[in-house]
Amino acid sequence: MVKLGLNIDHVATIRQARGGVEPDPAAAAYIAESAGADSITVHLREDRRHIQDRDVEILSGTLKTRMNLEMAATEEMKRIALDIMPHSVCLVPEKRQEITTEGGLDVVSQKGFLKDYIKPFIEKGVIVSLFIDPDIEQVKASGYTGAQFIEIHTGSYAEAFDTMEEGEEFSKLRNAAGLAMGIGLQINAGHGLNYHNVSNMLTIPGFYEFNIGHSIISRAVFVGIERAVRDMKHVLG
Ligand code: PXP
Repeated sequence: MVKLGLNIDHVATIRQARGGVEPDPAAAAYIAESAGADSITVHLREDRRHIQDRDVEILSGTLKTRMNLEMAATEEMKRIALDIMPHSVCLVPEKRQEITTEGGLDVVSQKGFLKDYIKPFIEKGVIVSLFIDPDIEQVKASGYTGAQFIEIHTGSYAEAFDTMEEGEEFSKLRNAAGLAMGIGLQINAGHGLNYHNVSNMLTIPGFYEFNIGHSIISRAVFVGIERAVRDMKHVLG
């Protein structure tokens, strides 16, 4: 069964809207884990717009499952991550003005840099995942870096869902996943996945985990985090 990673950034987004202490991302993670979430993702952005350093510290001591720390490949983030020692890091491109992570990492143009960047993580036992578009060249370059995982960007598929372009976007995911498995990479997927479009994803073999944030937190506004997580677990089978 494909595992469910819950991204709790948006819990922190609501808290930061007032700059106070509620809602508490650590409490959200606790409830989500009790409801069956298999891991918790937090994205410590350079501009600290939602998750704060203190959240990451607290979660590292309270999570019962796994922490997947999403981050840009900067020296600052490397220092923080190697101090916190999450179960895994997921390297993403980061632009200050973007609303959310817009595209995958360009591994092809910086594969030498990334190979060196991730070395200390792998040596210290932190799993490394590269967030990439479903592109054959990006998959091959990811294999070269030594990362154990890729997370395939499902944003274009999610946008194309229920349109004429859905089939084409879905084929890209299938091909990228197939190649990744062939060269020994483990595969996650995420971005834009929701209760409707995730079912198709289950027909592609090999995925280890789907990382989902916005749709689950949106549903949680109405039904609570526990129910929203249980509902997604139910869809995943
Ligand atoms: N995976 C990565 C690498 C992301 O950047 C995000 C968004 O923060 C997600 C998964 C979750 O995307 P969504 O919030 O659209 O479910």
